[in-house]
Amino acid sequence: MDKPFVFGVTAVGDNFTDRQDEAKRLLANFLSGVNTVLISPRRWGKTSLVRKVGKMAEEQGVKVVFLDVFSHRTEAEFYNGFATAVIKQTSSKWEEWVENTKSFLSRVRPTISMGTDPNVDFSVGLELDEKRETVDEILSLPEKIALKKGVRVVVCIDEFQQVMDFEEPATFQKRLRSIWQHQSAVSYCLFGSKKHLMSLLFEKKSLPLYKFGDVLYLTKIDTDSWVNYIVARFESSGKEINESYARLICKMVDNHSSYVQQLSWLIWLRTENRVDNESFCFGLDDLLNQNSMLFQRDVEYLTGYQLNFLRAVCDGLDSEFTKKDVIAKYNFGTSPNVTRIKKALADKEIIDVSSQKVTLVDPVFGLWFRREIQHKQILPFTSSLEDENV
Ligand SMILES: Nc1ncnc2c1ncn2[C@@H]1O[C@H](COP(=O)(O)OP(=O)(O)O)[C@@H](O)[C@H]1O
Ligand SMILES: [Mg+2]
Repeated sequence: MDKPFVFGVTAVGDNFTDRQDEAKRLLANFLSGVNTVLISPRRWGKTSLVRKVGKMAEEQGVKVVFLDVFSHRTEAEFYNGFATAVIKQTSSKWEEWVENTKSFLSRVRPTISMGTDPNVDFSVGLELDEKRETVDEILSLPEKIALKKGVRVVVCIDEFQQVMDFEEPATFQKRLRSIWQHQSAVSYCLFGSKKHLMSLLFEKKSLPLYKFGDVLYLTKIDTDSWVNYIVARFESSGKEINESYARLICKMVDNHSSYVQQLSWLIWLRTENRVDNESFCFGLDDLLNQNSMLFQRDVEYLTGYQLNFLRAVCDGLDSEFTKKDVIAKYNFGTSPNVTRIKKALADKEIIDVSSQKVTLVDPVFGLWFRREIQHKQILPFTSSLEDENV
């Protein structure tokens, strides 16, 4: 039997739930050649969604190329990775890889390396120089292959925010835009995690990728969909959970995709037949303990003021931090100090500030913080929840 719940990997098959609307929109973009920019915080489900839609588009004859640039530190690494991914994923035979490399990348004197199984281990090494034509040739590769094969190509670039760390991000983006905007058979799906960085990339008028494509902000999967999924997964693996507990799982982790799956899994492990108070609480405890080291480390880098701010957020405050009594109660110092604290925590991606409201980026960090730092009891159950509407 498949694992009933997965986390830390791309969700596929029976482990993928909901997202019908987003999938429809993304698929339409893929099929009709519209560029897409997909943005959400980490581990909400971007990669899983793009992978799923990529598969659907492939079934309709579109070639889909995936590239993850998370580990790319320089522009040169990007070009190598880009060329390798495009060549490898647009054809099935390695003979074709070699041929395409030679004919379409003539300027960059490619070296091709292969492992014991050339169908799997294949990479292109490029001798890059600073010349504009060299880079243009690489960026034009998908269009050339698409035209030669008479197919539409979609290039999906994961963790795209990474390009902001390149030496000259604006020049780099200008290069991409100037070549990509003239391509007729290729479209791009750029997606990434750091919300603010991604918005900066695509929404600031002065930046080259402004209005590059259809911008999709991925939201959370709603509670009803999660509840159906959780109940069904327990059932198909021979165990049982009632709706109230399934709802409580969503509530505890604020519908955060990866945590819903992780908490469900931990509770599932602790359950013999039917989820009860004990297995639920043990599962939740496991979740906090498993993340404890990471959270502990995050907290060690915070100032006293920042910790006080988090105490206020964990007490339920989401705005009006500069009110006199709030400043006094949480010892924030001055009102300008509050602005600085807020900015520092947002930069560290511990809090998120949108429409003036502050929320914690990581809901499990909030639970942990309440347990460890505020010394508050977060497991308010003394009686069974079986019949309670939570
Ligand atoms: N549609 C989905 N259905 C079920 N679980 C999902 C879904 N999308 C994401 N998840 C859960 O969230 C985790 C992170 O998903 P991922 O696609 O890697 O997110 P991102 O790319 O945004 O970081 C997955 O491992 C899985 O546990
Ligand atoms: Mg991802």
